[in-house]
Amino acid sequence: MKKVFVKSYGCQANVYDAERMTDLLAGEGYRETNAMEDADLVILNTCHIREKAAEKVYSELGRVRDIKLVRAADGHDTKVIVAGCVAQAEGSEILRRAPQVDVVVGPQNYHRLPDLLQRSRARSVVDTEFPIEDKFDHLPKPTRAQIVSRGVSAFLTIQEGCDKFCTFCVVPYTRGTEMSRPVARLIDEATRLAEAGVRELSLIGQNVNAYHGEGPDGSVWSLSRLLRRLAEIPGIARLRYTTSHPRDMDDALILTHGDLPALMPSLHLPVQSGSDRILAAMNRQHTGDDYRRIIARIRQRQPGIAVSSDFIIGFPGETDADFDETLNLVSDIGFAFSFSFKYSPRPGTPAAERSDQVPEPVKAERLARLQKLLETQRVAYNQATVGQTLDVLIEKPGRLAGQMAGKSPYLQPVQFDSDSLTVGQIATVQIVRAGGGSLFGDLVKAGDRVAA
Ligand code: SAH
Ligand code: SF4
Ligand code: F3S
Repeated sequence: MKKVFVKSYGCQANVYDAERMTDLLAGEGYRETNAMEDADLVILNTCHIREKAAEKVYSELGRVRDIKLVRAADGHDTKVIVAGCVAQAEGSEILRRAPQVDVVVGPQNYHRLPDLLQRSRARSVVDTEFPIEDKFDHLPKPTRAQIVSRGVSAFLTIQEGCDKFCTFCVVPYTRGTEMSRPVARLIDEATRLAEAGVRELSLIGQNVNAYHGEGPDGSVWSLSRLLRRLAEIPGIARLRYTTSHPRDMDDALILTHGDLPALMPSLHLPVQSGSDRILAAMNRQHTGDDYRRIIARIRQRQPGIAVSSDFIIGFPGETDADFDETLNLVSDIGFAFSFSFKYSPRPGTPAAERSDQVPEPVKAERLARLQKLLETQRVAYNQATVGQTLDVLIEKPGRLAGQMAGKSPYLQPVQFDSDSLTVGQIATVQIVRAGGGSLFGDLVKAGDRVAA
């Protein structure tokens, strides 16, 4: 049997796509391997969001070339595919810089992989056209064994692409225009996942709360309506969604927080900056106070909710005063955790053309200050759970023998001693200590066991 190795970079959309690609290739006789050296087919599923992410691909392709040569000396052929957002953005430029690549395929064209592999026997091929058909309609469903091997918490892409055109961002160009998958398909896929033991669904999209899929009755469904329907599927105990845009946090979705027990108290809502001037220049279409109001309303409904965010530091024209506004917003909100990045000028985006780029050392100094504050908040958030009793969805055995590891409703990793519980159960655990990246607790009560 042939073997395929897939390495994904970037966001969860890529993780989900990688699973769909391996499902498709299973039908072509490929089994997944974790060792690139053993692979007959190597897929790099790339990310273009920042320069560093995009450049990683080329260093990895150097490694792939070396492995390809070693394998060729042993008489083995190795096919190399570059997929994902760098493939979409750079197309044939990749073949110029890395002739060892056989196929360059954009994120919307994965259903054509068998055909592209076939065609690449003659010479390397590039497919970055945006097709009319929806790739998901043409990708095979995972088998029960594949679902089980991926664990009790699964991603489900419900929406792709973005029409918002923030002035720093490549996603509208690499993933294309916004598209929502039809409700019936999502129910079908979620049901299959649940029947194979999945307990938690994370609904994925670049702009997931802009979801507006076609319902079974032909009407348009919002994310809140979809969440309520998915919560009815037997076995599904937890729902999350990511990544959201503040502009699309509508009343119905805010009401669903606190109203739908399966909707977990965690929200990733990127704000990028606390300065209204910078937010306008980013074309975010909301102010810092709009963001504060949204969070206040959600906290009224789910008081302890873990709010997380993304920040871009050193966007063109950002002054010390703008940066202080960002620190103020962070202090006002209190985040459970966050991701923060130095602004990276991206080809083809309006902000990259601006002449008032912020010098690298200024970006670095501001980023370090922001990250210090965010880290203090993260530690405080986790510390506040000590003494609380939390439901933990068990995902895997813990680091030590006799331990189990899972997630709290607030997305925190939790470890506790138990030799009788199994993966997929939801246990009640009293938190005794917060340390490093995890919480540690004592089992209070074994949870429900769902026949899978
Ligand atoms: N759709 C989401 C974000 C998707 S990209 C949203 O609207 O917020 C994930 C994160 O990468 C962004 O939130 C942003 O913080 C960061 N990012 C995007 N483009 C960037 C750039 N050019 N430089 C630095 N960080 C960037
Ligand atoms: Fe990028 Fe903005 Fe779209 Fe998010 S909303 S994917 S940051 S363009
Ligand atoms: Fe990266 Fe593409 Fe996701 S650019 S963040 S992999 S949508």
